[in-house]
Amino acid sequence: MTTITIENIKKSFGDADILKSVTLDIKDQEFTVLLGPSGCGKSTLLRIIAGLETQDSGVIKIGERDVSALPPRDRNVAMVFQNYAVFPHLTVFENIAFGLRMKKVSDDKIKHNVERTAELMHIEHLLSRYSGQLSGGQRQRVAVARALAVEPDVLLMDEPLSNLDALLRLQMRSELKNVLEESKTTTVYVTHDQVEAMSLADRIAVMNEGRIDQYDNPDEIYRNPATEYVGGFIGNPPMNFLTSPHWSNSAPDGAQKLGIRPEDFLVSMEDQVGYLPVQIQTIEKLGSHQQLTSELEGQGLRINIASELPVQQGGILFLQPKPEKMRWYDVRGEII
Ligand SMILES: Nc1ncnc2c1ncn2[C@@H]1O[C@H](COP(=O)(O)OP(=O)(O)OP(=O)(O)O)[C@@H](O)[C@H]1O
Ligand SMILES: [Mg+2]
Repeated sequence: MTTITIENIKKSFGDADILKSVTLDIKDQEFTVLLGPSGCGKSTLLRIIAGLETQDSGVIKIGERDVSALPPRDRNVAMVFQNYAVFPHLTVFENIAFGLRMKKVSDDKIKHNVERTAELMHIEHLLSRYSGQLSGGQRQRVAVARALAVEPDVLLMDEPLSNLDALLRLQMRSELKNVLEESKTTTVYVTHDQVEAMSLADRIAVMNEGRIDQYDNPDEIYRNPATEYVGGFIGNPPMNFLTSPHWSNSAPDGAQKLGIRPEDFLVSMEDQVGYLPVQIQTIEKLGSHQQLTSELEGQGLRINIASELPVQQGGILFLQPKPEKMRWYDVRGEII
């Protein structure tokens, strides 16, 4: 069982509080994604789990073991960085074997582990090639295979796909998910890409300036953002937040804003009871749907509608939020 327990981790650099009491309970074999914008503290947290950075206070446990004060080599974690270092003058085999050789593992075991992880990553036919002769995607796979070959309890990945082109990224994303399910390694994966997070994660921890706003499965994060920040970060375009709109007679006590996703409106070309008119400012035809911008009672609003609706720029559309999709947020931006 390899759980990761992160308890009240705090970290400052100078007078900047970068991590403000982060707590996360990661389950055995779970794939957790740390998601947040640049500078929110994702890499710092990952490096603290790895032991490459020291927290000011708080506890890290891997399984039952308190590893808070242990050096990286005693934590049995493997890490894949954004700028994965694959040694060009070594063969793929030796690259994958690197961590095992450092641990003075027997030759038989090295051969076994290298071949197994190379197969897992679909690079078994490349083992005798020099890594300098590989494509970016192949090199990426070597880096992941090397991390898996040491049979870590925990795999930590920091934006490992960010150097790949869009297509390769997509392909590697689904491969990674399969490989990690097969290898049953508890994984923490850092990204600022919400689509990557949604597609890979069992659970996403959404970070907001050194805090975790929400830690939940992707569906729950999408449907019920715990804070205005989460709703505004996830979704393309993100959730709309409207201050006291005319629909607010259904609002619970303390409600400050209505959160409603662009695709969650009932739409009509004619006026109907309960619908409000909006003027269409821009229309983007995206094939599967149309993405509109408009304004309601002076507040910007984004709406996704079916591609066949005959809307025109400057025209009027009548809207009502689907009642079951309305979410209400209080003055602190927290869901009610
Ligand atoms: N060694 C350091 N010394 C001083 N400040 C640091 C150090 N490491 C990180 N920081 C600061 O801490 C904050 C968080 O950095 P971190 O690298 O964790 O962000 P991140 O969420 O990984 O961002 P990105 O998506 O850009 O990689 C940043 O403001 C960064 O400048
Ligand atoms: Mg980072």
